[in-house]
Amino acid sequence: MKTLTIIRPDDWHIHVRNGVILKTVLPHTAQQFARAIIMPNLKPPVTTVAQALVYREEILSALPQGAKFTPLMTLYLTAATTIAEIKAAAESEHIYAFKLYPAGATTNSDAGVADINAIYPLLAALEKYALPLLVHGEVTDDNCDIFDRERVFVDRHLTAIMRDFPHLRVVLEHVTTSEAVQFVEAASDNIAATITPQHLLFNRNAILAGGIKPHYYCLPILKRETHRQALIKAATSGNAKFFLGTDSAPHTRDLKENACGCAGCYSAFGALELYAEAFEQADALDKLEGFASFYGADFYRLPRNTDTITLEKQTWTIPHTYSDITPLKAGENLSWKLVSA
Ligand code: DOR
Ligand code: ZN
Repeated sequence: MKTLTIIRPDDWHIHVRNGVILKTVLPHTAQQFARAIIMPNLKPPVTTVAQALVYREEILSALPQGAKFTPLMTLYLTAATTIAEIKAAAESEHIYAFKLYPAGATTNSDAGVADINAIYPLLAALEKYALPLLVHGEVTDDNCDIFDRERVFVDRHLTAIMRDFPHLRVVLEHVTTSEAVQFVEAASDNIAATITPQHLLFNRNAILAGGIKPHYYCLPILKRETHRQALIKAATSGNAKFFLGTDSAPHTRDLKENACGCAGCYSAFGALELYAEAFEQADALDKLEGFASFYGADFYRLPRNTDTITLEKQTWTIPHTYSDITPLKAGENLSWKLVSA
């Protein structure tokens, strides 16, 4: 039996929600990962240290008995964020970053930032207090084609942010285009990028060819095949600027299979198995450990994990549903299975 044992990975970008959904999805993440960067786009968004600490307690109490999992909390950056809050976040042992959502870019982003120039003093404070800025890198301009929104964000905003705040550490979340990959490669070591399993495994045909498939709809939207190839190349290159962030984003089935369906793919149930599939297809399984278990921790200046997980080459069929959440690739086969964790 072929097996793959690697140092236990971390998920550097995940939505675990709260309430009932949290209880369904958190055990999946806690089984695979030691730590995860928890996205703050709840309703209402998590904008203060006090709110993040309450949310952290809710997460901890939803963990299965005996689980060893550490949620790494983030705050949602808004035009109303104060420098005092940024200082308090930097002083908290539980807050690891701020998330920048351009207003209207995605799920629960109404409270996001409408004018990036207006938050320059906040970016200066993040730089000063050495807190990473996590960026949803898409413009929200109605006139900008949805497939171009990431590229235009990089040109219009990210280039300026990196120039004006040379010591600010930035993670360009869920990169989806060759242009974003090239930007990250060429910029300073203060920028890194997460890559999701769906953007490694699928191109936009998965959403649109042969019928509309809402469970493949996420933001940034899947792009054409040339971009997927660029992402595969980046993820399997051994370049430490690219690391694992699932962006697992559960929505109940009724909200996905809807005339105006929500964006987000649910992948936490088998995150490592999905990545293993993509890395194996690229004949690069030997590069999975760095991507999944080392580079993110290094970027966040956290110790690497020391225990291991083992995947076994074994075909299994993904269930059609976890509670009322339809997983990515529902009903299809995966060829790796997490066997010891
Ligand atoms: O597809 C997405 N879903 N992209 C995001 O940026 C947000 C996420 C969510 O929270 O559902
Ligand atoms: Zn996300």
